[in-house]
Amino acid sequence: MTHEHSTLFDHPEGYGSVSRALHWLMALLFAWQFLSAMLHAIDREMPVTRFFWSWHMSVGFLLLIAVILRGVWALINLGNRPAHATGFLGTAARLGHVALYVLMAAVPLLATLRAYGSGRGLSAFGIQIFAGSGDRIPALVEPANIAHGFLGWALLVLVAGHVTMALTHAFLWREDTLTRMLRGRPAPAARAD
Ligand code: HEM
Ligand code: HEM
Repeated sequence: MTHEHSTLFDHPEGYGSVSRALHWLMALLFAWQFLSAMLHAIDREMPVTRFFWSWHMSVGFLLLIAVILRGVWALINLGNRPAHATGFLGTAARLGHVALYVLMAAVPLLATLRAYGSGRGLSAFGIQIFAGSGDRIPALVEPANIAHGFLGWALLVLVAGHVTMALTHAFLWREDTLTRMLRGRPAPAARAD
């Protein structure tokens, strides 16, 4: 082992336990969130939709808090993460990850501003985030009406590309990209030491 010290933080061979926990917990929450959105788009009156949709605001707001924490943690670890490849694919990966962050933040942020501007208040998991003021603020409502759903679907498309590339790296090109997010270090055979 080259790394006897704590693996809380990221390092050039892989992601630390905090980054990995945030990545996979949020991936599960996003799967749940997209399921509720897809059911809502198909038929919002179905009982199964009513069940999943009743969680959409709570899980969405939790994701907003989670992405803020994850973004701060990413910045703290920025200089110490596994390097991207050089050339086109590396640049595409870097831009793709930045775009994921932008959409992960913008989609729930727009919806939260809309909830505030609606004057009806917002609760998540039964906890009141802000009370209803009764005043409608169109400037906070309109952006989400225009873009929340659209950007949400754009995020789903981007995630599909992200997962495809992660699996391509691992199983087609047999590189250590997936292991550094799963185990936090390269597979034994690929280690230099
Ligand atoms: C990252 C988190 C979120 C994702 C990925 C997401 C995704 C989506 C998607 C794809 C739709 C379109 C569904 C359809 O076409 O029927 C949608 C609709 C909606 N979402 Fe979210 N959402 C998130 C967070 C939130 C939050 C935090 C709230 C409330 C505070 C919220 C409230 C709504 C509402 C009211 C709609 C129906 C109106 C509309 O399409 O804009 N969402 N969401
Ligand atoms: C089965 C699902 C998923 C797999 C297999 C997967 C795989 C990976 C892998 C292997 C990395 C490391 C890439 C590298 O070091 O260059 C990574 C990083 C990343 N993934 Fe995923 N991912 C999945 C789902 C998601 C989802 C749902 C999101 C967001 C909506 C996401 C957002 C990110 C981001 C932003 C990074 C950059 C590192 C970070 O800041 O956490 N991933 N993913």
